[in-house]
Amino acid sequence: MQPFDRRDFIAALGGSAAVGLMSHEARADALENALLAQAVSPRPVRTEPVVANSSAPYPTVAELAAQVPDLARRRGTGAILFNAQAGGKLALLPKLPAKPTLGDYFNLRFDRTRNHCFQSAALALKNGVDEPVVLACLLHDTVQELMRSDHGYWGAQLYEQYVPERTAFAIKYHQALRFYPDEKAGYEYPDFYRRIFGVDYVPEPHVQADYAFARKHKWYDAPRAVTVNDLYAFDANATVSLDPFVDIIGRHFRQPKEGLGNDNSPSAHMWRTLANPDAPL
Ligand SMILES: [Fe+2]
Ligand SMILES: [Fe+2]
Repeated sequence: MQPFDRRDFIAALGGSAAVGLMSHEARADALENALLAQAVSPRPVRTEPVVANSSAPYPTVAELAAQVPDLARRRGTGAILFNAQAGGKLALLPKLPAKPTLGDYFNLRFDRTRNHCFQSAALALKNGVDEPVVLACLLHDTVQELMRSDHGYWGAQLYEQYVPERTAFAIKYHQALRFYPDEKAGYEYPDFYRRIFGVDYVPEPHVQADYAFARKHKWYDAPRAVTVNDLYAFDANATVSLDPFVDIIGRHFRQPKEGLGNDNSPSAHMWRTLANPDAPL
């Protein structure tokens, strides 16, 4: 924190004559406000650690952790709704319709994740994956608009009221399976995980346990298909849309007639938070 400048403080209040006219309480309030304002340092704009390019050595877990104080946000918090973008500005969000559908959330809230999810679902469709799992590919990372940390678990809770059980299972366990290669299924450990998690990263115990559980489950193929079709080449310019998936959504997504967020489901509050992340409480 910067040292407190008494002269600046008095000048900001209108000079020593003005301060002399203030009550003791008013002076104390003004001082407290000034100290609080000072405690909020200028917002850094970097939201992720500097991850060196492919020719540099992989960072370690400790080296990545050491960069946290320079970031504009915690790495686990939602990508778009809760954080300033580069330049320190928050986007003004368009209002959702009164009875928002999944398509409305894709159009108006899933700005950061939809392209990646469209590409993953398109690949799954091409590879002949069954429809509930294509739907899982379409939805698998969208909860990262709300929360990135443990996104498989958050995502499964957001969607389980509205999708087949197999779809929710695939969304939940894709998070753990990403860390475990399966040569037979065509899944390698993603090289860039060594950069973003650290070369010496070991998955947390709950992830290890859930991997072991899913590996033996009759639906292992479902989250595995999400990881196999998870496109790590995020092509921001790819022309993909929700259109190829509208029929699959119609067949497998139980859109509530009141609108997502208004249906009193166990995850309705998550949808409302996505709809209005500017609510102060
Ligand atoms: Fe994911
Ligand atoms: Fe993904």
